Amino acid sequence: MAKHTVVTMPGDGIGKTVLPEAVRVLQKVGFDADYVHADIGWDCWVNEGNALPERTVELLRRHRLGLFGAITSKPKKASEAELSPALQGKGLTYFSPIVGMRQRFNLDICVRPCIAYPGNPLNFVRRTASGGFEEPAVNAVVFRQNTEGLYAGVEWTDPPAEVRAALAAHKKFAPFKDVPGKDLAIAVRCITRQASERIVRAAFDHARQHGYKSVTVCEKPNVLRETSGLIEEVAKAMAPEYPGIKLGTDNIDAMMMWLTKNPEHYGVVVASNLFGDIVSDAFAGLVGGLGFASSANIGDEVAVFEPTHGSAPKYQELRPSIVNPIAMILSAAQMLDHVREAASARRVREAVAAVVKEGRVRTYDMLRIPGGPEAIRSGAASTQQMTDAVLAHL
Ligand code: NAI
Ligand code: MG
Repeated sequence: MAKHTVVTMPGDGIGKTVLPEAVRVLQKVGFDADYVHADIGWDCWVNEGNALPERTVELLRRHRLGLFGAITSKPKKASEAELSPALQGKGLTYFSPIVGMRQRFNLDICVRPCIAYPGNPLNFVRRTASGGFEEPAVNAVVFRQNTEGLYAGVEWTDPPAEVRAALAAHKKFAPFKDVPGKDLAIAVRCITRQASERIVRAAFDHARQHGYKSVTVCEKPNVLRETSGLIEEVAKAMAPEYPGIKLGTDNIDAMMMWLTKNPEHYGVVVASNLFGDIVSDAFAGLVGGLGFASSANIGDEVAVFEPTHGSAPKYQELRPSIVNPIAMILSAAQMLDHVREAASARRVREAVAAVVKEGRVRTYDMLRIPGGPEAIRSGAASTQQMTDAVLAHL
């Protein structure tokens, strides 16, 4: 019997295309694992009224390790309209299965490395004072709290009377108290000390383990005094346990500016759910974008690894497929790290780095050409050719 069993959840669209590519890489590095398929995503919603079926939850509970491709989600009304006729009108509401999975298994630690591979034409460059160009070595890892904050799902349009009454107890609610219910949408930003401690701890531990000199809290404590304030307070209290690692706080808005001026100033970044989502996308844009952005969702028992891109429906039918499998492959490398196969993880990253540096095999995104059926004729590598190039280096 293999040492690990990986639950593979390709999901929708290009999730189905890229996930098998990561499995090919894992097999090539000799990762000792079996793979079991699990259903997730749009077809499950349409046919079963649940995008995250219980059988998939059960497989994750049993095997504790998941690789996830991507899912398609649609706004509320569009989702309901696509439900199979037998399920219509039963009051079912679509809920993102990836958000559901994070909450179900408390996958509260989200890790998104944003590390520039030399030779990637998509890397951020900036002009020097003398008129030349330079390419800062971006090497940031974003730790995003994955279960709370504005993504916890505590929101209403037309909030019930008891909610309105409770909110009226806050004096800053006064300007909203007479707004008609149907014209009032409210979301609650729940932040707990316990979850803040876990994400900040994970960020500091990562910094110590990998030699990063700084941890930056990316929040807005001067305005969001209670919620961002709590996260900052937790980080300040923990910092003395990590001598040699400098703790800073940047407001999210200012940081959006600083990270495009001096991205090399950042090491480990830690943030609440929404801000972590934003800042990690911003950093990802400096190192190649969605084709390179990998992530880990880690809980105490279960961990799931996924590219941050979605299902890119406009490319899902293309044969050969043109999308970049690197984000998915790097997500698999994060999985290897998680199960303490660090040497294999390093080999995978080195193989990706070598392919990027050589520059002979590049998917359409790396060539900065439009995606579509012409991409291959214009010299872009297919998804499978990119993986083959990585395999050749292994
Ligand atoms: P998307 O990430 O699917 O695609 C945006 C664009 O980025 C694509 O059109 C393509 O140009 C490019 N792109 C994405 N992945 C790429 C890759 N591997 N290689 C090269 N180029 C790539 O985001 P979009 O279009 O906003 O959403 C499409 C669907 O995906 C929606 O239903 C959305 O809800 C869902 N989604 C799912 C996510 C997940 O499963 N975690 C995350 C983001 C969106
Ligand atoms: Mg995002």
